[in-house]
Amino acid sequence: MKNITTIILAAGEGTRMKSSLPKVLHNICGKPMLEYLIDNVKSIGIDKVIVIVGHKAGLVKKEICGIKCIKQSKLLGTGDAVSKTRSILLKDNNIDNVLVLYGDTPLLSQDIIKKLIEKHVSSSAGATLLTAQLKNPTGYGRIIRSSGKKIVKIVEELDASIYEKVIEEINVGVYCFNKRALFYGLEKIKPDNKKEEYYLTDTIEVLTKSNILVESVTTNDAEEFLGVNTRAELGKAELVMRKRILDKIMDGGVTVIDPNNTYIEHDAKIKKDTIIYPYTFIENNVKIGSNCSIGPFARLRPGTIIGDSVGIGNFVEIVRSSIGQETKIRHQCYIGDTVIGKNVNIGAGTIVANYDGKEKHKTVIEDNAFIGTGTILIAPVRVGKGAVTGAGSVVTKNKNVPAGTTVVGIPARLLNKKNNKS
Ligand code: UD1
Ligand code: CA
Repeated sequence: MKNITTIILAAGEGTRMKSSLPKVLHNICGKPMLEYLIDNVKSIGIDKVIVIVGHKAGLVKKEICGIKCIKQSKLLGTGDAVSKTRSILLKDNNIDNVLVLYGDTPLLSQDIIKKLIEKHVSSSAGATLLTAQLKNPTGYGRIIRSSGKKIVKIVEELDASIYEKVIEEINVGVYCFNKRALFYGLEKIKPDNKKEEYYLTDTIEVLTKSNILVESVTTNDAEEFLGVNTRAELGKAELVMRKRILDKIMDGGVTVIDPNNTYIEHDAKIKKDTIIYPYTFIENNVKIGSNCSIGPFARLRPGTIIGDSVGIGNFVEIVRSSIGQETKIRHQCYIGDTVIGKNVNIGAGTIVANYDGKEKHKTVIEDNAFIGTGTILIAPVRVGKGAVTGAGSVVTKNKNVPAGTTVVGIPARLLNKKNNKS
């Protein structure tokens, strides 16, 4: 899709969120909602993306670095926001069509965006918009059609008459415009509405009055177009996205015992025949091998890599660590900044003390080691192959445990004998 560019509107403050964070930067399953839209348009092959920023523009730009941003200094409405791209887009002879999305609709699927573009291109319309039928259309712009079912205009909730308010066909807020039709429409709109804003939606009436074709695609999937304007809507979007992520993971051959009580962020990767028990949190940038057993009540944080056939049990927290195959960490442990080898047993209540108050340090536990119940490992430290720590021992920093030896006590001291685990 070379001759198309996407504009994502993200300048608004999102007052109804009651937040100091710009609305579009609120996370859904561990990823800012704006990034879902950017990733989706890129995945369908649209490389040109412009994001309109305004409220706390610096924060938004920083989050999406690498994406072209244009500043809307005064928030004069969605139409004003789009017109900020005018000089850039009119100059670019390779652009014929413009896809416009709102940064607060993160659940839109790639399929519906593709369908809209296809309809727009095949009908050679001036504009094609996405509509939906809603039993409760409150809050959305209403689609006004002629008796011949042709789109005439869009009326915003605030400006709608009581007759218009009962219309159940709403404006989802996804549009594909012919570039020239878009800027023609934008030039003619006026802020003569209750909010005194320049509404992008008013361009539709300008086009229809000039006999320029306006087409539509209708979606029945109410989840897709949920606009996130409040915390309650953010919660709803989180539920929908969580379910999508879980469905995809289960589709890949993973068992999730209780999908209603399992929290997996958007880019966790889990291989087949792993079983996830309830109340488990798996955050971004976590990779889990096959045939593992995870949870219940486990928390795997970013940078965790788990090999095949690993057992992670209840109340285990792991961050920035890798766990070798067949290793067991079954009960109440904290493992941070640690590399654990194969077939290691980490006893109940083991804690890696990775932070000394200033810096985080690394711990290495080599293959076949046996870490006794309630061991504290003070990083940086290394436990050699097949080494054993006694229950309740405290291995102090840099006091590496040589391969095949056993240490006990506080601070941990070497027992003379070599064990037979090495
Ligand atoms: C908008 C549509 C409405 C549609 C609904 C779908 C208009 C006038 N109305 O209403 O028809 O049913 O979305 O969710 O377009 N923004 C800017 N600059 C501005 C104003 C807004 O960038 O000056 C951005 C916001 O950050 C937001 C998006 O545009 O991401 C939509 O604005 P919002 O105020 O949420 O519009 P709605 O009232 O939801
Ligand atoms: Ca909105």
